[in-house]
Amino acid sequence: MSADEAAAMIDDGMVIGMSGFTRAGEAKEVPMALARRAKHDPLKITLMTGASLGNDIDKQLTEANVLARRMPFQVDTTLRRAINSGEVMFIDQHLSETVELLRNKQLGKLDIAIIEASAITEDGGIVPTASVGNSASFAILADKVIVELNLSTPEALIGLHDIYIPQMRPRREPIPITASDSRIGTPYIPINPDKIAAIVLTEGQDSPSNVQQPNEDTQQIARHLIRFFEKEVKAGRLSSSLLPLQAGIGTMANAVMNGLIDSPFENLTMYSEVLQDSTFNLLDSGKMVFASGSSITLSEKCGKHVWNNLDHYRDRIVLRPQELSNHPGIVRRLGIIAINTALEADIYGNVNSTHVNGTQMMNGIGGSGDFARNGQLSVFITKSTAKDGALSSFVPFVSHVDHNEHDVDVLVSEHGLADLRGLAPRERARVIIDNCADPFYRTALNAYFEEACQRGGQTPHCLEKALSWHQAAQQQGSMRSVAEALISANSEKSSI
Ligand code: COA
Repeated sequence: MSADEAAAMIDDGMVIGMSGFTRAGEAKEVPMALARRAKHDPLKITLMTGASLGNDIDKQLTEANVLARRMPFQVDTTLRRAINSGEVMFIDQHLSETVELLRNKQLGKLDIAIIEASAITEDGGIVPTASVGNSASFAILADKVIVELNLSTPEALIGLHDIYIPQMRPRREPIPITASDSRIGTPYIPINPDKIAAIVLTEGQDSPSNVQQPNEDTQQIARHLIRFFEKEVKAGRLSSSLLPLQAGIGTMANAVMNGLIDSPFENLTMYSEVLQDSTFNLLDSGKMVFASGSSITLSEKCGKHVWNNLDHYRDRIVLRPQELSNHPGIVRRLGIIAINTALEADIYGNVNSTHVNGTQMMNGIGGSGDFARNGQLSVFITKSTAKDGALSSFVPFVSHVDHNEHDVDVLVSEHGLADLRGLAPRERARVIIDNCADPFYRTALNAYFEEACQRGGQTPHCLEKALSWHQAAQQQGSMRSVAEALISANSEKSSI
């Protein structure tokens, strides 16, 4: 069927589940046909995906006013604007949870699933492409399935996926994943072929990832973290193969993982969501022996190499549904080292990953919460400042909490690493300010902390000043003036 005919099946008000996770494996033709149709035949849908989409699909759907509700993650600037202006209702979810909620009928009924496939088996099973994401449960739970069969995908994709769907609660059996390389399911999504309402052909390509090359700051963050791991090995808390690694999306996490290439660790494994360039660099270097994820998202150069040589990696990677790649129980069982990126952290260890100034959505929490709460070591990395030093990434009080102080073990910036394990709030504040904050803001944070301590409390604060750094950022685009005021008030006090 043509994409336009398939898109005509979508009615106003429908809930649509679509493949796609971190710009990999999204349906490409039908959403574009829907955007074209909506320009002369307006309609609104709820769109669920695995995570972010490539090929400007979120942009096109936003510009065509198709999106009423969107979940669970996005990274598109046009959609971000529509979310922040209140035009699109965005439901920011832990990535492991979307299909669990759907299965339990807590998100309504899924009308249509649109799934990109690299092949269809004789009995109608769907073989996904570069991501699994939520595709398996979407296809199983939807009334109808539209398959986009991508003719340009390598044959070596067949056999790479491991599809397993947990049983309904409360009698769910334990999920038998005991290591990164466990295979527990089928290499395709088993569905009743009668539900396949259309097959649309495509040769569309995934968008390349847009991560930047490591720079001095991100390399410095990597060095601090590697030194910390070395100490953990020496203390007998980690072995030389560490523990299965999870790394968040974006430039910083990718840079940190690349840093492991020159580390003394060996036989590393990964149990993560996204397999980025750094994963394949580590596999190529021989440092990593196996990587489990839910998607493969690569730069243009690395993508060319990996997709042309997929056979070479096939036995060392697996792609799972995101419900399993991010499963809190498995993350805790395997003892994962979770490395995610913060927008900002406060002096007590609360982390904001999503909201600029507590109000403006950036991307979403993604899988960071699935891993941060349950991993053996929960690490958050960030540069000490943003916007050329106008904003401090370490603040008295975060303007939005995604990961609270109870879930954060280690914070790292280019200046150093704060090991928060076993520390009380007042002790945490000392190590965070001393090790991670930018030197200029460090003085101001110390002034704030000292004044707060004089007022007392388990977690001391000057509440009237706690968010003043964000107010200044909102009004003046910079936190410098409020930090300067704190520093000069403090130096006047000490001279008296
Ligand atoms: N205040 C305001 N803006 C800030 C900021 C702060 N404290 N810290 C960073 N930023 C801005 C940067 O200036 C940059 O803006 P730009 O795109 O206009 O240049 C943007 O945030 C991205 O920051 P960058 O330093 O390039 O880091 P990144 O690409 O590694 O992304 C996050 C950082 C936090 C946005 C990203 O990791 C994320 O969305 N995380 C949440 C989801 C997640 O953790 N998933 C992990 C499991 S997949």
